[in-house]
Amino acid sequence: MVKKSISAKIYPGLRPNESIRVLISDARVKTRLKQLAKEIRRDFPKESLHLIGVLKGSVFFLTDLARELGGEVSFDFLSVSSYGQGTDSTGEVKLIKDLDVSIEGKTVVVVEDILDTGLTLKYLLRFFEEKKPKHLRVVVLLDKVERRIADVHADYTGFVIPNEFVVGYGLDFDERYRNLPDVCVLQFASQGKAKSA
Ligand code: IMP
Repeated sequence: MVKKSISAKIYPGLRPNESIRVLISDARVKTRLKQLAKEIRRDFPKESLHLIGVLKGSVFFLTDLARELGGEVSFDFLSVSSYGQGTDSTGEVKLIKDLDVSIEGKTVVVVEDILDTGLTLKYLLRFFEEKKPKHLRVVVLLDKVERRIADVHADYTGFVIPNEFVVGYGLDFDERYRNLPDVCVLQFASQGKAKSA
């Protein structure tokens, strides 16, 4: 399959030293989302599901998934930031915005945009487990399996992707590109591929 490149004409936000190409089209994302929703509902057919989105990357994923799930669904968001960006990341995570409502006794599905080293998810799982949900599951849209450091996994995974820096469908580079409908690989002219930190 020929991978579609996106020019500055199509996406005016593109900077001169950056190029993007579609990795997963929005149509493929939507199709996979329906399947993920079915998988989750198969496991919890009658349960009220409480989705927790990790801001901001998971916003489109969560809202699209919520509409595919059917049945009773509520949601909440939290925001975290990693201390120490880069390859020497300590894995310490700082809570920026806490949950609005208690998750005790609820069937919780954590909705993450991308699983990279897994350090953020490891922190989040510990944080949520302490709050005694009835069930705790994780759904991720994208999984860079080869980057994993922490021993964590998602219960439901949209796509396993190679170690390339991706933007679009909520994912950003420096707060840009979140509004691209497709999941795209971002590359820099001077540096070649932008690998995640
Ligand atoms: P982890 O703790 O290394 O698994 O990092 C997960 C977080 O890193 C995600 O929620 C994203 O915010 C960010 N991230 C990792 N890889 C990418 C990428 O390719 N594009 C955009 N953000 C990414």
